[in-house]
Amino acid sequence: MTILALETSCDETAVAILRGRNRHCGPELLASEVASQIADHEKFGGVVPEVASRNHVAQLPRLLERATASAKITINEIDAFAATSGPGLASSLLVGNSAAKGLAIGAGKPFLAINHLEGHLLSPFFGCEKIEPNIALIVSGGHTLLVNVRGVGDYEILGRTLDDAAGEAFDKVAKLLGLGYPGGPEIEMRAQTGNAKKFDLPRSMLNSGDLNFSFSGLKTAVRYLLPVILSRADTASPDRTEGSREIKEDAREIPRFARDDTDNLCASFQQAVIDVLREKSSRALQQTKSRRLTLSGGVSCNRALRENLRAVCQKNGIEFLVAEPRLCTDNAAMIAFAAMLRLENGIVSDLAEEIDPNLALA
Ligand code: KG4
Ligand code: ZN
Repeated sequence: MTILALETSCDETAVAILRGRNRHCGPELLASEVASQIADHEKFGGVVPEVASRNHVAQLPRLLERATASAKITINEIDAFAATSGPGLASSLLVGNSAAKGLAIGAGKPFLAINHLEGHLLSPFFGCEKIEPNIALIVSGGHTLLVNVRGVGDYEILGRTLDDAAGEAFDKVAKLLGLGYPGGPEIEMRAQTGNAKKFDLPRSMLNSGDLNFSFSGLKTAVRYLLPVILSRADTASPDRTEGSREIKEDAREIPRFARDDTDNLCASFQQAVIDVLREKSSRALQQTKSRRLTLSGGVSCNRALRENLRAVCQKNGIEFLVAEPRLCTDNAAMIAFAAMLRLENGIVSDLAEEIDPNLALA
């Protein structure tokens, strides 16, 4: 069973070809192509939907050709075609969805509509024999979810963000600091040389009594700190401000400030996000008595987050699973894997099934 999957829900165009497992070995990823559009959106400080969908149309034929060539396979040898059907940007989802449906109709093979969040949620099990019950923490640019996973397709949402997603908070704080897009990797890099104890930032909703999150207050706290940092920079000695950079807020020029403080702020912000994610995940594990935590979504590339969660799991005898970084950010391999698991359970989609920008996981 060989599956070709397309992922076009946001600003990555991706194609993957996965050969299903047999009795002797796990699934084999024959090709995984990802064309990032970061450079096209960076100048706007975020994703522009119209630009994203046009890029998907332009990129897809080339990526399909590359994927089939590197997998040494023809379209006729594909057994099923899958595409992300939501959640995501409507005009972007339509591109991958229409292409996969067209290929399925042309080849006379089944089509599978896959939930992007299910792709992330299952990715820590990529290559595993079985999906074991677990508590899944999904942290991406659009979502922050704690999910009780009982099996493939059997999901209960335990908590979600009430405002910004964790990745969105990274992106917005990076923008405030004049760092590049996406903000997560930039902040992580700065945080490595920063002091996480330097700024006392809020850990929102820790005592809310539920498993929901809120990150917009944290972002606002960073915004309020900027003038404090800037006033320090004004009085800093020249060598302290060496290596500093211009930062912009709402397109207004803000004077230079010390690089040290940017690094400290990045480290303090990152630790605040991690503390909340770690604490709420621990509570979800306690409440459900689950012995397994999985971490997925773009923010799960963050090494400090991975290490923090791994350490707390180790301490409490909990199994911890996270995918390799290339499967954490948006990719089509995770969509192909979710499609494969569905196919194994005899599930295919109706060609009339529409995309849904707000598609729910459960
Ligand atoms: O899963 P993903 O690729 O796309 C969505 O489904 O949203 O996640 C993208 C998000 C962005 O917000 C990006 O800043 C964040 O993941 N991200 C990170 C890191 N790498 C990517 N956040 C923190 N640390 C990272 N190393
Ligand atoms: Zn994603």
